[in-house]
Amino acid sequence: MPDLFSPFTLKGVTLRNRIAMSPMTMYRSVDGKMSDFHVMLMGSRAAGGFGLVFPEQIAIVPEGRTSVGCAGIWDDAQMEGLSRVAAIIKDMGAVPAIQLGHTGRKGSEKKPWFGKTQLPPDHPDGWQLRAPSALSYGGRYTYPVEALTIPQIHALHAAYADAARRALACGFEWLEMHFAHGYLGASFLSPLANRRDDAYGGSLENRVRFHLEALDAVRTVWPDSLPLTMRLGSDDFHPDGTQFDDAVWAIGQMREHGLDFADISLGLNTDAMQGVPFNEVGFMVDRAARVRREIGIPVGVSWNLGIPAMADSVIRRELIDVVFLGRPALANPHWPVWAARELAHNDPFSLIPEDWAWWLRSRPGPEGSLGWPPVATTTMG
Ligand SMILES: Cc1cc2nc3c(=O)[nH]c(=O)nc-3n(C[C@H](O)[C@H](O)[C@H](O)COP(=O)(O)O)c2cc1C
Repeated sequence: MPDLFSPFTLKGVTLRNRIAMSPMTMYRSVDGKMSDFHVMLMGSRAAGGFGLVFPEQIAIVPEGRTSVGCAGIWDDAQMEGLSRVAAIIKDMGAVPAIQLGHTGRKGSEKKPWFGKTQLPPDHPDGWQLRAPSALSYGGRYTYPVEALTIPQIHALHAAYADAARRALACGFEWLEMHFAHGYLGASFLSPLANRRDDAYGGSLENRVRFHLEALDAVRTVWPDSLPLTMRLGSDDFHPDGTQFDDAVWAIGQMREHGLDFADISLGLNTDAMQGVPFNEVGFMVDRAARVRREIGIPVGVSWNLGIPAMADSVIRRELIDVVFLGRPALANPHWPVWAARELAHNDPFSLIPEDWAWWLRSRPGPEGSLGWPPVATTTMG
């Protein structure tokens, strides 16, 4: 039976444990480039014991960013920063992962701490939004949206392939397509955002065509030996939106197009969601477990899994294969080592690089001399 600290092998890649740092947009890029800040952020989490480390969503085209301060991979000039990030993650013993995405009708945002609203297309830091249909998201996202033409959709698939080629050259070994959170992939799947009457809209089969063609395009350049994965907006929690049963069927189709792993998340295609249990621990786990069972591919999931005993238990019960941590990874760079202590792992420092762990194991001192608080809560069952 695996536990949180068991290695996980997918294709030619082995994670040293089941703990992933989930992608988190930091709004700190200039011209879409990663800098020392990103090397610090991802390097520290890899050194803190995470097995799989994602930088934020990386945009495949400039207008695929969330804000003008977000990172991208549409230009060779962006590869140096990304390569440094991938190299430090690998050097610290984790697997470097990349999430390729496009924000669709949720882009052209301000930095959230200046108000989570959009900038108009004629603002120097804004742009024209494009999505499956000419429908604004509504509420705080007010600016007009243009429907993508079919040649524009084909160009985006080519941009996914270019992005994957660059990601590979930068040293990333795990590729996730961002099809969740109301961004472009999520809005193609959702009837709330997709009202097209061509081959990319209408029936469920048509609404998943965008995803299948994106996977096909990426597979032409991304080696079969490396995991090709996606994060899916699997449920809009709205009667007229993406229904989870439909998402399960869609993932089955994606598996036929080379998908190796599914990261199950929310649709977030509307603010008018009904009954999302945002305050419940691990509230997406059951959905991910169903995908694992019915589609037969490994799965990961985020959302409220920062309590070590809970994260460990969903792996031990073989509900999911990898735990994705967002806010806990921001809050505690050493979450994996901390969790290992809490769960009475026999050598928590084995999770971090040996040239660092050696000092922590080998120097004598009184209880507490390492500065860790006493073990608080649970033991490994
Ligand atoms: C600051 C911040 C930025 C985020 N940016 C992204 C992103 O770029 N891509 C993505 O798929 N999810 C993003 N998320 C969602 C997280 O990856 C994660 O799925 C979510 O926070 C739930 O996990 P948690 O309960 O462990 O925080 C972001 C979350 C936060 C807090």
